[in-house]
Amino acid sequence: MSNFNEKMAEYVEFTEKELKKYNDYNDRNKQQVNLIDAMNYSLRAGGKRIRPVLVFAFCEALGADKEIASAPACAIEMEHTFSLIHDDLPAMDNDDYRRGQLSCHKKYSEATAILAGDALAVLPFEIIADAKELTAEQKIQIISFLANSVGRDGMIGGQVIDMENENRTDVDEENLKNMYRCKTGQLLAVSCAMGAICADASGETIRAAAEYGLRLGFAFQIIDDILDVTSTLEELGKPVGSDAEKNKTTFITLYGIEKAKELADEATSQALEWLDAIDNNEFLKELTEVLLRRKK
Ligand code: IPE
Ligand code: IPE
Ligand code: MG
Ligand code: MG
Ligand code: MG
Repeated sequence: MSNFNEKMAEYVEFTEKELKKYNDYNDRNKQQVNLIDAMNYSLRAGGKRIRPVLVFAFCEALGADKEIASAPACAIEMEHTFSLIHDDLPAMDNDDYRRGQLSCHKKYSEATAILAGDALAVLPFEIIADAKELTAEQKIQIISFLANSVGRDGMIGGQVIDMENENRTDVDEENLKNMYRCKTGQLLAVSCAMGAICADASGETIRAAAEYGLRLGFAFQIIDDILDVTSTLEELGKPVGSDAEKNKTTFITLYGIEKAKELADEATSQALEWLDAIDNNEFLKELTEVLLRRKK
């Protein structure tokens, strides 16, 4: 196995292990068992875990142990899982499968899925505030960055643009770029930035990490849109053709698959340039290329 594959497996395994630490039953939450089950159903189903991997990889590249970054890594995977649970709801993309199993609202109820998403949006802030490995300053910086990236100006803001665009026929490149930046780029950017903050990196380096994440996110969403056209439910673990069914405008509907691929290539090159500002960037460079070629 190559160094890259080994490192990737190590980060994913560590993520799975750390995620299990949170959200168990205890004496105080006996009446919330169904909610806890629904949260863990989606969280522990196992996605690619790209966001926590980025947190750990930036933390280690910049000279700190990955153990320090456990709380922000789990936090971002929870926020991401919240975004997926709500994204699949009938009021949004109305998709019945996610991560190779029934969507949260199909397995549980719609109301439970909404509340499981809500709970996964808030638990991260408790986890970070309680993290023993982080200083008070790191926690405040991380909480501020994370809240911004998830909320009105980030993922949630991007999802709103996505929904509003379904009823429009005049969606252009600028609109799409802004939507991708918000709905996908920001969660990847904050993953990278949090890893850098855990390593006590300079403001300039934290910014470079975030800028890298934004470009990576742009490429990542374009590939996601391409796979929605070219892949299968079995391979992806989520429905294909979902975007066309809801009249979504994507770079594929605007320009076709070939040009969309070129745009993803371009964004990947830009992302790689930002990595020059990061010290031990070999793993991150390879990860960037691997994500461009991903099949799921
Ligand atoms: C899917 O994200 C949603 C997008 C932002 C494109 P991922 O492709 O990272 O989903 P998982 O975590 O692997 O399931
Ligand atoms: C995902 O966009 C953005 C999120 C914030 C979840 P999509 O709606 O294309 O994601 P998938 O394809 O359902 O994972
Ligand atoms: Mg969506
Ligand atoms: Mg969707
Ligand atoms: Mg998609």
